[in-house]
Amino acid sequence: MPRPPHPPMRRQPGLLRRIFNDPQPVLDELRAEHGPVVELGAGPVRMAVIGGHTEIRELLAMPTDAYRWNHKFNVLGFVVGDASMIVSDGDDHRRRRSSVQSAFSRRRLNGWIPMIVDRTDRATERLVADHGGQVVDLYGFGRSLILEIVVRVFFGERLAGRAEEIGALFQRSQDYLESPAVRQLPHPFPFTRRSRVRADRRRIDALIDGEIAERRANPTGDPDDVLEALVANDDLTDAEIRDQVVTLIGAGYDTTAASLAWMLWCTALAPDTWKALRAEADEVLGPPDVDPSDLDHTSLSALDYADRVMRETLRLHPAGVVSPREAARDVTVGDFEIRRGTLVLWSAHLAGRDPAAWVDPLTFDPDRFTRLDDDQRAIADAAWVPFGGGRRSCIGFALAQMELTLIISRLAQRLDVEPTTAVKPRPVGMVVNRPTGGVSLRVHARGG
Ligand code: HEM
Repeated sequence: MPRPPHPPMRRQPGLLRRIFNDPQPVLDELRAEHGPVVELGAGPVRMAVIGGHTEIRELLAMPTDAYRWNHKFNVLGFVVGDASMIVSDGDDHRRRRSSVQSAFSRRRLNGWIPMIVDRTDRATERLVADHGGQVVDLYGFGRSLILEIVVRVFFGERLAGRAEEIGALFQRSQDYLESPAVRQLPHPFPFTRRSRVRADRRRIDALIDGEIAERRANPTGDPDDVLEALVANDDLTDAEIRDQVVTLIGAGYDTTAASLAWMLWCTALAPDTWKALRAEADEVLGPPDVDPSDLDHTSLSALDYADRVMRETLRLHPAGVVSPREAARDVTVGDFEIRRGTLVLWSAHLAGRDPAAWVDPLTFDPDRFTRLDDDQRAIADAAWVPFGGGRRSCIGFALAQMELTLIISRLAQRLDVEPTTAVKPRPVGMVVNRPTGGVSLRVHARGG
């Protein structure tokens, strides 16, 4: 079995530097020049980029023991904790993941629908009251809104008022993970970025420990609160619960906010899309001032067009451009052998733009999903991987999709938005792909 093709050695230092600073053009270049599987680096610093949709599906379907997530390149453990499911393997991973997964039951997810709409309405009212008629960065607006929702989902009503403080404690670690790899090398020195991230993590731990203790002593009885469910479940130690909660906020906040930002760009630059979203929302959700407590999963599943807008945005702009894992043994992907110890980066960005899977792949066209015959649908399903697949797929996929669909529908119902440029911004971010400079749009109340 041959090894994957690789660019000439003299080009590799430049490619390796660029892939961590500005990944998307490098990924496109590697795919165009070398095909669906490419190898970079040498010796112990070797990586394989997997960009073909069939090869990605094959990789996601492999047994998880073919790969390791707690590996020599792993930088996440420092931020999320060594007991986080995201950096665990084998039985530890299965136990931690299944405990969290049961907290994301369908019943609990459905219970969050009215809260998500209500939080969106309140944030929109504040936005219009404070900035109606002005140009506003809606990325910042979306981040605060998603943070509020996520804190409510994980901690219940009691900590909902402390969302801003919790967001501030996460901010430094998110920035740190986006900083150049050499800045993330482990060291014990004080007064550095790394030591400040450690200090913030201690504060987050103290906050979560306080909540765990409080819930053991006085359960809130809130059926919708994830932390309460984890504490009641008894499968995890307190330290494990703490690392899972930090992981869920870390993995679920910036990713969803960045996806909302891209959704706003894609729809604001296509006024017919905004109008169609509004018409659907008026029909499904009722008048914009209706009490959201009546909304439920039937309303959500009737938002077909918003669902397609969400899917099309995530196809073109997945929050994770690449996702890493290490080959725990020699593995075969497509026509190639990838050697044990190689860092394998599979790319949702490349799969979403694979011309073998999508007609006119760079065009934003939410209705493309309605024009597929059975064969094309099977290919599209295989190539749409913003949340991964298999046993390590995103645990928050249903929550994220629900948030994005409801929020964009409600915003289209209540806001008029006007872009200040006709050009979509460049993407930035290796860990979370977001639009450079945010989403500056002029906002008005609907019809205002
Ligand atoms: C649009 C938003 C999101 C996107 C695009 C996204 C994407 C992903 C992807 C691609 C993976 C798999 C990586 C791999 O195969 O190695 C993943 C894993 C994960 N995601 Fe998400 N995610 C999003 C939102 C969320 C939310 C809201 C949560 C939490 C509530 C979350 C929690 C997780 C966790 C815990 C894992 C690790 C699962 C494991 O290791 O078993 N994500 N996510």
